[in-house]
Amino acid sequence: MTAPRDDATNDATNGAPNDGTPDVTPDVAPDAPRDPEGSVDTERRALNAWLWRLPVLLAAGAGAWGVFQAANVHFFKRRPDPTPTFVDGPPQLVAPLARFGAVWDEVTFVYQGVPAIAVRLPGPVAGSREVDGRHYAAYSRVCTHLGCVVALNRDAEAIAFAFNYRADGPQFVCRCHLSVFDPTRAGRAVAGPAIQPLPRVRLDVRDAGEGRELVATGLEPAPES
Ligand code: FES
Repeated sequence: MTAPRDDATNDATNGAPNDGTPDVTPDVAPDAPRDPEGSVDTERRALNAWLWRLPVLLAAGAGAWGVFQAANVHFFKRRPDPTPTFVDGPPQLVAPLARFGAVWDEVTFVYQGVPAIAVRLPGPVAGSREVDGRHYAAYSRVCTHLGCVVALNRDAEAIAFAFNYRADGPQFVCRCHLSVFDPTRAGRAVAGPAIQPLPRVRLDVRDAGEGRELVATGLEPAPES
């Protein structure tokens, strides 16, 4: 004959009174190791949360950089130094003065490996040379944006159409990304992505038998972007 189950005795053995409530005490010792799978899941969820934020942070950073560049390009184009410092170089013939019979006559040349242009201007600018009331200036033709070669454009309408800049005289233009530099403002960048002005070439005059000629004698260091 089977003896009746004595629950009171059984619960007493577990150390808890039998009041009819199910026993939910975990069968795990308090100092047992935690579930390693659960902790890996938590770390994975935290990592995923950061991975989702990453594109947002990158987009925000790119946006801030774009705003900074746009402000730089549109509002903070650098002014040419009013008293340029030239690095001396060997005197090199540019052209006889007779080649500059009219305002805006130009001569291209290479000085110390740098493509350059000399032009007769309607008036003085910082770094220009005056000879008998006429004004001459020379500039590097290397665009300060990304290094393409600029050229003198005399057509104000073409500059307005192609470069989106309304000029009141000939300008140096760069076809690569449409920067414009003003020769009558000492080569300052006035439109497009270039920020820095064109470096200037120092001009001097020397006698040359029948007449006089322009010579290059120094180069303004290229600006740091
Ligand atoms: S290289 Fe001249 S505008 Fe870019």
